[in-house]
Amino acid sequence: MVAADISKVYPKDTEAPAGGVDDMTRLLYLHEPGVLGNIKTRYEHNQIYTYAGNILIAVNPFQWSPYLYGTHMMEQYKDADLGELSPHVFAIADVAYRAMKKEGKSNSILVSGESGAGKTETIMMLMRYLAYLGPRSGTEGRTVEQQVLESNPVLEAFGNAKTVRNNNSSRFGKFVEIQFDKEGHISGAAIRTYLLERSRDKERYKLGAGPKSFHYLNQSNCIEVDGINDSQEYLATRSAMYIVGISEEEQEAIFRVVAAVLHIGNIDFDEGTEVDSSVIKDDKSRFHLKTASELLMCDCDKLEKALITRIMVTREGVITKTLVPELAIVSRDGLAKTIYSLLFDWIVNKINVSIGQEANSTQSIGVLDICGFENFEVNSFEQLCINYANEKLQEYFNQYIFKMEQQEYTEEEIDWSYIDFVDNQDVLDLIEKKPGGVIALLDEAWGEGTL
Ligand SMILES: Nc1ncnc2c1ncn2[C@@H]1O[C@H](COP(=O)(O)OP(=O)(O)OP(=O)(O)O)[C@@H](O)[C@H]1O
Ligand SMILES: [Mg+2]
Repeated sequence: MVAADISKVYPKDTEAPAGGVDDMTRLLYLHEPGVLGNIKTRYEHNQIYTYAGNILIAVNPFQWSPYLYGTHMMEQYKDADLGELSPHVFAIADVAYRAMKKEGKSNSILVSGESGAGKTETIMMLMRYLAYLGPRSGTEGRTVEQQVLESNPVLEAFGNAKTVRNNNSSRFGKFVEIQFDKEGHISGAAIRTYLLERSRDKERYKLGAGPKSFHYLNQSNCIEVDGINDSQEYLATRSAMYIVGISEEEQEAIFRVVAAVLHIGNIDFDEGTEVDSSVIKDDKSRFHLKTASELLMCDCDKLEKALITRIMVTREGVITKTLVPELAIVSRDGLAKTIYSLLFDWIVNKINVSIGQEANSTQSIGVLDICGFENFEVNSFEQLCINYANEKLQEYFNQYIFKMEQQEYTEEEIDWSYIDFVDNQDVLDLIEKKPGGVIALLDEAWGEGTL
């Protein structure tokens, strides 16, 4: 016997089917335990997808089903009405595509969920299905849709990293706008990326010495990930790079830059003879400095100077200041992050140029994939930005869904009372409000030079 507080007891639908219902709107009682119970029941019956009206809820099974995403499945969902077949991510893509073709209007598909929920994989499935629906006939070699799809592994290779939550966690956000011509064939794509997190290093570049000897790689003590074959992934990345139009020569240059970043990370400093100055620590550090400059094809002395000095522009003119070793390290890491970030931007730009966009494209389907909400033992500014982006997206979702629903009720002259939903405005205010919000305070502190 359990005594429960009556206010915490929710009615159960005793006539619900054993396998649950495939659309939450069919639940007799629509309360949180009912919704969660339904998702659980379906999951136990190997159904990872459930609708809530025209929204799709997915549970990450962490196990690939051999038939769930095959061509046969794609054929089934083509032109099927939403709800006609079992809930599926293909059905959502199909609705977006058909609506676009029928109304000639662009659509966007938003995928949200915490880190590791399966957003990036879902986006990949959406893109694969759209590529299946809209291939261009008669194109030889590298097709636009192939390039659009292969942009994913390339961006993931440079922009994803292992976290405690997800072995392949997106450390950047991306919005891919897939453009279609009047016949509904893919004609181009535009990729925009946001907020690359650069304080995490994941490149495994074989440089003779092995990854463990690189400062930027050995801090996490995690060099291998179960089930991941680095050499296979490397070859897949190289082949994807080729497909998205990055030449052999450019690929070599990319890996040279990555290697240079790693070597920069191994340059250490000692105090110099002058007050508040530093010098390159020893022969080992000098070797890394020299290698980095060779890889970057820049002057070794200039690189050294850039690391151990800071140039300040003041009203009186340009001042060069020497740095103590601790600050030289900050400068070193800053340089490495900037180089890496510019490399990432270069790759994104290269892919965009090679896929091509239609200047006057009127029909497109956009897919948005961001870094999911995350909470680590130690959270930094990056987590604040990531979680804020998630919060903002949630607000948009709330506004859109509830506004849309209520508008529909009004149009259909249904008597409705205001739908109560958890409003996250307080959280947003705390972060973004001007003045007084966290970001505004950080800006202020930054301006005063206290950060
Ligand atoms: N539909 C699926 N079927 C089987 N496994 C899946 C599926 N979706 C995701 N996974 C597994 O879960 C892992 C994490 O998924 P994914 O990288 O898409 O998460 P995410 O939501 O993008 O997280 P983050 O916000 O950290 O980028 C994948 O690497 C894959 O192993
Ligand atoms: Mg992701």
